[in-house]
Amino acid sequence: MSYPYQITTYEAYQQAYKQSVEQPEQFWAAIAENFQWRKKWDEVLNWNFKEPKIEWFKGGKLNITENCLDRHLPTLGDEPAIIWEPNDPSEHHRILTYNQLHEKVCAFAQVLKNNGVKKGDRVCIYMGMIPELAIAILSCARIGAIHSVIFGGFSAQSISDRIIDAHAEYVITCDGAFRGGKDIPLKSVIDDALVSCEFVKRVIVFSRTRIAVSMIKGRDVWWEDEMKKIDAVGITDIKAAEMDAEDPLFILYTSGSTGKPKGVVHSSAGYMLFTNYSFVNVFQYKPGQLFFCTADIGWITGHSYIVYGPLSAGATSLMFEGVPTWPDAGRFWSIIDKFKVNILYTAPTAIRSLMGFGLQPLKGKDLSSLQILGTVGEPINEEAWHWYDENIGKKKCPIVDTWWQTETGGILISNLAGVTPAKPAHATLPLPGVQPVLVDENGKILEGNNVSGNLCIKFPWPSILRTTYGDHDRCRQNYFATYENMYFTGDGALRDENGFYRITGRVDDVLNVSGHRIGTAEVENAINMHDGVVESAVVGYPHDVKGQGIYAYVIYNSMHENEELTRKDIAMTVARIIGPIAKPDKIQFVSGLPKTRSGKIMRRILRKIAEGETQNLGDTSTLLDPGVVDEIKNAKL
Ligand code: PRX
Repeated sequence: MSYPYQITTYEAYQQAYKQSVEQPEQFWAAIAENFQWRKKWDEVLNWNFKEPKIEWFKGGKLNITENCLDRHLPTLGDEPAIIWEPNDPSEHHRILTYNQLHEKVCAFAQVLKNNGVKKGDRVCIYMGMIPELAIAILSCARIGAIHSVIFGGFSAQSISDRIIDAHAEYVITCDGAFRGGKDIPLKSVIDDALVSCEFVKRVIVFSRTRIAVSMIKGRDVWWEDEMKKIDAVGITDIKAAEMDAEDPLFILYTSGSTGKPKGVVHSSAGYMLFTNYSFVNVFQYKPGQLFFCTADIGWITGHSYIVYGPLSAGATSLMFEGVPTWPDAGRFWSIIDKFKVNILYTAPTAIRSLMGFGLQPLKGKDLSSLQILGTVGEPINEEAWHWYDENIGKKKCPIVDTWWQTETGGILISNLAGVTPAKPAHATLPLPGVQPVLVDENGKILEGNNVSGNLCIKFPWPSILRTTYGDHDRCRQNYFATYENMYFTGDGALRDENGFYRITGRVDDVLNVSGHRIGTAEVENAINMHDGVVESAVVGYPHDVKGQGIYAYVIYNSMHENEELTRKDIAMTVARIIGPIAKPDKIQFVSGLPKTRSGKIMRRILRKIAEGETQNLGDTSTLLDPGVVDEIKNAKL
């Protein structure tokens, strides 16, 4: 596999960037030529951000799995596509070559067909980090079904909300999942979720932990039994469904500033092109290298940089089932040593957490195979950046700080490893095709350097979200209505004296906890469901490891029991409604919340108090009851 569009010098980057802005259609059309199409496109780009309507390569026909699998078989058939490391280091790892992955995807695609799944159907996938998760995803794509993967940390309630929203009649899950010292009963959670989803026709269950599960006659089938039927008739290849470039490939739910998560929809061709292009350029991938992205496939990072980006590039992608700190804090380093990983892509929260264990877990681990390091998901503080650089990269590996979002599909702002300059804690420069702008509150574009404002993108790139499932107007309102003719990211950023971007964090009511995106309104809704809670307000506060922690101010009607137990009860309610990832770190009981006369909660004040600020709380004179601020301040946790 060669990548004629790989940028290898700073000058080439500048040239590519210039062309991508001046002639975006020619620029992307030339890159699209490197993929396998059943039929070429009629039109490269058709767009307006008003509706929004964004179409890339309209009229083109393809199937992403032919690009991720079939086209590699003649040259890379016996090369590893996925190397899988299990949770427990004493269990044997697995290697799937491109030939084997292709065969399994075809077989499972036939299983899906046998079970009634058709092109355009939505399939909910709730599995642990095992190769079958990647197989399930690719099998959906093979037959043109739209996958909706749900992270294993979400609760039954969250799953049923998502299944109902997408009207997914098919579910693929596991009996359970291993994560560190825990066995997570996935099928049992699915069973709870499906109580309110009677329209679900089929649940396919892969056996991973082989705990006891209930299998409902007529609805639930075992993955292995279904695969045996395929083996019996000897199916090793099935023709991929012909998809339009703009046909949806998947839905991925993510949190916004309103209570209900949105189903972000990505297209087939544009998503494929951009995840491939960004993978090859940001990580400077060279054929034969081993790429290890530590994300979970339940999030966009796993979709784009464990599955689609690497596989479309014929790369070898390492997939890890466990957690960085189990059985000990040297787990990542052992994996890198064991498989001779060349590129490591992880989250600042993981780096900070591992930093906390000191250098002992690194002892005896040979990390010399590493060539490039990456981070994603949240701003990386300079201390963590330097620790990563010195102790993991041994000061010889370029670090890419990649900024992007579920909605952007792929990396939009990042240095290109070793090609464009890096600067600690800065995502630096936009990828070719990406046109960022900073705007002030009124939407005025801030020109020049040394400015900070709200980050928008003024021109579409191929993997921009196309809609939010089932509610296009929500997509418009959320991303395209705040500033005219621009995609609004929800992030704040500054542009330094060199024109490098530094992402400063969300400017809306979205938190980033351990790289997981959580809406404050969502957490408030969940807290308010708890019996006895009158009202709540949730804000973020700086957390040494998680980046942000969740701080909840709660008005509780009467405190019958001890406060600590009530806190635990509330946390349990949040875990039930959303999932354990959204449990508040701190719950402070208050008698009132600072509100304006019109009844709006002054979160700015609450945020400052949660951050430990006691003096400069800003203007409190417009508050209905300024006294409440002192009470909250004095009782801060
Ligand atoms: O605030 C930004 C932060 O993560 C948000 C997107 O979250 P999500 O859709 O879950 O996707 C995460 C993985 C791409 C952004 O709005 N974020 C992501 N990458 C960075 C970042 N903040 C600072 N620096 C980054 N490199």
